[in-house]
Amino acid sequence: MTKAFVAGWPVAHSLSPQLHGYWLQRHAIAGSYQAMAVPPHDFAQFIANLPQSGFAGGNVTIPHKEAAFSLCAAKDGEALAIGAVNTLWTENARVCGTCTDSYGFAANLDDHSGNWRTMQTALVIGAGGAARAVVHALIKAGLSKITIANRTPERADSLAGLFGPKVSAHRLDTFPQLARHANLIINTTSLGMDGQSGEVLSLDEASSDALVTDIVYVPLETPFLAAARLRGLKTIDGLGMLLHQAVPGFERWFGVRPQVDLPLRAHLLAILDHRSRQP
Ligand code: ATR
Repeated sequence: MTKAFVAGWPVAHSLSPQLHGYWLQRHAIAGSYQAMAVPPHDFAQFIANLPQSGFAGGNVTIPHKEAAFSLCAAKDGEALAIGAVNTLWTENARVCGTCTDSYGFAANLDDHSGNWRTMQTALVIGAGGAARAVVHALIKAGLSKITIANRTPERADSLAGLFGPKVSAHRLDTFPQLARHANLIINTTSLGMDGQSGEVLSLDEASSDALVTDIVYVPLETPFLAAARLRGLKTIDGLGMLLHQAVPGFERWFGVRPQVDLPLRAHLLAILDHRSRQP
């Protein structure tokens, strides 16, 4: 029986067991996918033990993605471009890794927009690990201009510096002007999510045909997406990115390329809805 895992700390919030469990059931595969709570100080040992563990591989999530990148014996081009690893497998007793976050981001947009790949200008809010995966996806898709707006300007500078002349760094307070020229606007931060840390960025000046997306999916309609919808802009929520980023790992471990479709989305939405009602 093929076994896979998701390792995180904490890991109880992860939807990956339900997601992969759904596909295992749908394809009648006698495999398993389990959540593993691995604290940061045990993570290096966890990776070292992997080739003898009986697992075909697994996912890593917060806070282990950068550590997994450092600890993998072999990494592909996606992992190198993003500087993180979220999908592991073993080959000849070596631990190998990739990062499927850029793929998941792009595949989610592909599902909902026929023309995002031909857009000119994208505006990315945030400059952390998630923003790096998004910028890589945008460059790969061929967008010609990417602007990054971040609260801490130095982090925006560092991120832009990784990607060359198509990418520029800006202060978050210039967001309204940047939004005027953006065809695609992506939030990668938890801005406005904790109910106290300031107002949602104003989309008043955004172009009326701008497409707005968020990589956060709890809540499904983030305050930023709600503001975009009220402004009459087309929006795409972040749940599809989670679903799509899981596809390459499942295929690698279990040998079947699974589908991201409406029944899967409905299954996970029901779980999220149930969780949101828990005290
Ligand atoms: P992730 O891996 O999810 O991207 P991260 O590396 O911690 O997480 O990055 C979080 C991003 O959200 C950063 O761009 C952060 O801005 P700073 O670089 O200034 O810290 C941004 N962020 C988080 N909370 C924010 C807030 N309340 N207002 C503005 N930006 C915020």
